[in-house]
Amino acid sequence: MEENKKIRIGIVGTGSRGVDCFGQLLIKRDDVEIVALCDINPVRAKFAKEHLNVAANLYNSIEEMAQKETLDAVIITTPDYLHHSLSLYALKQNWHVLVDKPLCTKAADGAELIRAAKECSKHLMIGFNLRHHATLKRLKKLIDDGELGKVFLAENREFYDGGRTYMARWNRFYEKSGGLWIHKGSHDFDIFNWLLDFPKPLRVTAFAAVNVLKPEGIPFELEAGHEPGPGCNTCYYKDKCKDKWELTEDNLKAWGDEAVAQDGYLKNTCIYTSEKDTHDNGIAMVEYEGGIKASHFECFIGTKNDRCYTIVGDRGVAEVSLHHNRITVMPRWNEKGNYVIDVPPEDGSHGGADPSLVDMFCRVVRGEAIPNSTAEHGLLSSAIGQAAEISRREHRTVEISELF
Ligand SMILES: NC(=O)c1ccc[n+]([C@@H]2O[C@H](COP(=O)([O-])OP(=O)(O)OC[C@H]3O[C@@H](n4cnc5c(N)ncnc54)[C@H](O)[C@@H]3O)[C@@H](O)[C@H]2O)c1
Repeated sequence: MEENKKIRIGIVGTGSRGVDCFGQLLIKRDDVEIVALCDINPVRAKFAKEHLNVAANLYNSIEEMAQKETLDAVIITTPDYLHHSLSLYALKQNWHVLVDKPLCTKAADGAELIRAAKECSKHLMIGFNLRHHATLKRLKKLIDDGELGKVFLAENREFYDGGRTYMARWNRFYEKSGGLWIHKGSHDFDIFNWLLDFPKPLRVTAFAAVNVLKPEGIPFELEAGHEPGPGCNTCYYKDKCKDKWELTEDNLKAWGDEAVAQDGYLKNTCIYTSEKDTHDNGIAMVEYEGGIKASHFECFIGTKNDRCYTIVGDRGVAEVSLHHNRITVMPRWNEKGNYVIDVPPEDGSHGGADPSLVDMFCRVVRGEAIPNSTAEHGLLSSAIGQAAEISRREHRTVEISELF
């Protein structure tokens, strides 16, 4: 790209992530111009334009956007099941693509994207923002520097209170998100793959269930003649429900009646009574080649918010709290004594990871960097997530090779 030319970018999917994360980050940059906003819901696209205060053209489909715009790059922030087809389409337009995680909800689709990315002269980068988190970058360096020796065991326990919101939206349906082992777990499986230097995953066993976020889990008495929901804003019980997610007046411009009339998408459906076919907690175990093992525990109830990692090598153990930006290193035999690394927190969403991700993508588009995540990486984490989903449904260990 010419040095002083602004990157012409389009955002496909002007929901929370498209607007509140990427849109907000892009408008702060001098080297980017958001020239197109695309959403199947015209109310949301219009709100995005007003909210971001940009002179972008609005579109209801990526095809229409491609006919009318000359773009350098797109950011895809639609529901997960569309990432595959939209990324493929975008690569065929010769646009650089940043697709939020997961790359795909079915591992079989990943191969097509890997091929398309190789055939195209442009880059396909995945929104694996956790890799940009300062504490995880420090942990990766610790491992790469050999401080823990040869790593053979990894664990992540993830607590995400906001995960309850998954049960309020499309994320709760397997066909839209691939299930939470893909939707959420693709981040975490990618972090294992990256920290461990991409050993080949062989098989996965997982257990998961909805234990709390179901009608029997409602933590107060219902009154005769008053059903909860459908959304929190109109719910009879909103004053007593501690899980309510009430949309503000500003939120309602994008997610209120006018938007719902277009597509029926209610952003804050009751998390207890909503239909769902994914889980609110579970455990997945991955066996990699070389005897490396990882376990990922995810819990979307409770108030704790953290990712707690334990990494074990033949020369030491590291324990990490992402929430506290703290790594505790326990060398084997305690020769040097235990020590704590407090990583300075960075500004911005997801602990500063989102601004760093966007910055890398802009440098990629300018030809100044290559992406730190590829379609191959996206496929690997989706495959582990899909295997976990099959495992928990079919109560068996799933070989990754079954998916291809
Ligand atoms: N990396 C992260 O930390 C992170 C965090 C949250 C969400 N995400 C990912 O971001 C993506 C978006 O999630 P969200 O929470 O913003 O969802 P959202 O529901 O708030 O927004 C999705 C938007 O996509 C629009 N859309 C649906 N089909 C479309 C189509 N064919 N073309 C254009 N627009 C379409 C919807 O109308 C909606 O406005 C998901 O893939 C999710 O997995 C990533």
